[in-house]
Amino acid sequence: MKISQAAEIEDLRKLAKKALPRIIYDWIEEGAGDELAAQGNLNSFRQFRLLPRYMRDVSERTQTVQLFGQEYSSPIGFSPTGMQGLVHAGGELKMARAAVADNIPYVMSGLTTVRLENVAEAAPSHLWYQPYPTANRAIIEDLLRRAADAGVKNLVLTADLPVEGHRLRSIHNRRSGRPNPWLILEALRHPRWVANYLKRRPLLEDLLPYAAPGASRKDLDEMFGREYAPVRPKQTWSEIEWYRRLWSGKLIIKGIISPKDATSAVDLGVDGIVVSNHGGRQLDRAPAPLDMLPIIKMAVGDNVEVMLDGGIRTGSDVVIALCLGARFVFIGRAALFGLAAGGHEGVRRAIQILQAEIDVTMGQIGCTCIEQLSSDYLWQKNSHEYGDISHKASLLTGRRPDVSGGMTQPESSAGLISVPNNIPVYGSLGSTGATQHFGT
Ligand SMILES: Cc1cc2nc3c(=O)[nH]c(=O)nc-3n(C[C@H](O)[C@H](O)[C@H](O)COP(=O)(O)O)c2cc1C
Repeated sequence: MKISQAAEIEDLRKLAKKALPRIIYDWIEEGAGDELAAQGNLNSFRQFRLLPRYMRDVSERTQTVQLFGQEYSSPIGFSPTGMQGLVHAGGELKMARAAVADNIPYVMSGLTTVRLENVAEAAPSHLWYQPYPTANRAIIEDLLRRAADAGVKNLVLTADLPVEGHRLRSIHNRRSGRPNPWLILEALRHPRWVANYLKRRPLLEDLLPYAAPGASRKDLDEMFGREYAPVRPKQTWSEIEWYRRLWSGKLIIKGIISPKDATSAVDLGVDGIVVSNHGGRQLDRAPAPLDMLPIIKMAVGDNVEVMLDGGIRTGSDVVIALCLGARFVFIGRAALFGLAAGGHEGVRRAIQILQAEIDVTMGQIGCTCIEQLSSDYLWQKNSHEYGDISHKASLLTGRRPDVSGGMTQPESSAGLISVPNNIPVYGSLGSTGATQHFGT
């Protein structure tokens, strides 16, 4: 199958599996532990059906979205994924150029194989940056300065990496820290990937300015271990305060799955939250972001932009997340499958597939623009009562839902409240019905 013939993300996944050595493919696809969370992310979208409304003029449709003062062509962006050069030579540049060509945001991971400045040059107004904290504060301060100088306006801080998840496929594939010899032989069955890898062996380029002149790949890897690993478990909310003081652009926190953490982040003045469980790669028993989205949305109201990633593989998934209250979604593996399958062209194909699916889904359900998507279009067979979700939100945050948006007061008494307009509501009667049914 050629890239242009790929009709769904699943086709790109199959092409990626063929193109990549098993050790790389497993690293992309795997989840932590028994992969319950990674699988749960995919399943969470399947519990919903969309309730179409017909006899409306849907001949003109648009999926443009305004986010943090910029208009994007679709409500989708690229989640940060490290070491994209391992997936395809110069992967970060391919992703950045695709983001520009299709006018969507690209969140570049701090674990990049291409220098920040070079990626920023390729995507001057589409680049967001996800730094990793370093033991030597001067390094992270300099990275933030470099990001600001390169024109980055949106900084994404990852919260869900206190310790690295137990990802068993990679552990099995790299016994005693080295690739299993059988897998090295297996890699030879993917000559194009091997040739690309040898042509441009990925290097943690962004660390070069902080290393001794002439530092080798091994030196940089060691530096990475020294600088990054020890500080992650020490990250607390005071770190977010530190970033807030230092960073004058938009501050987004990613990897929020508990409503309590969501309200803490809002209290510290973040501009956005990405509800995420790191694609199920960290805590193997974490709930799916989609399941937590309505509660988190209820907890924070309209005080911040609430976004989501995890498990998105189709345009219907995107529409469902938006109907449940997400302003925007990000894709991790779906983009990497495209990158592996065909570099720049493959990433663009992934975007085109999702955009086409979003467009058809919107037309099918009777919506002509993103702002019309609401819980009215969601149907879930076994939904719970509204009181359940509102009660859960107040139990989890210790605050009482505020009908004007956000959970602002300490809870004095639990109880049912009226339905605020900005809270996603889904059920059998739609938001104009007398009885509302809600689900989680
Ligand atoms: C191979 C790989 C590398 C990742 N690297 C990072 C990273 O460097 N920083 C980060 O915040 N998240 C990272 N993530 C998590 C993604 O940002 C995102 O949360 C996740 O992939 C979303 O789920 P999805 O792949 O089902 O779309 C990575 C995910 C994958 C698959």
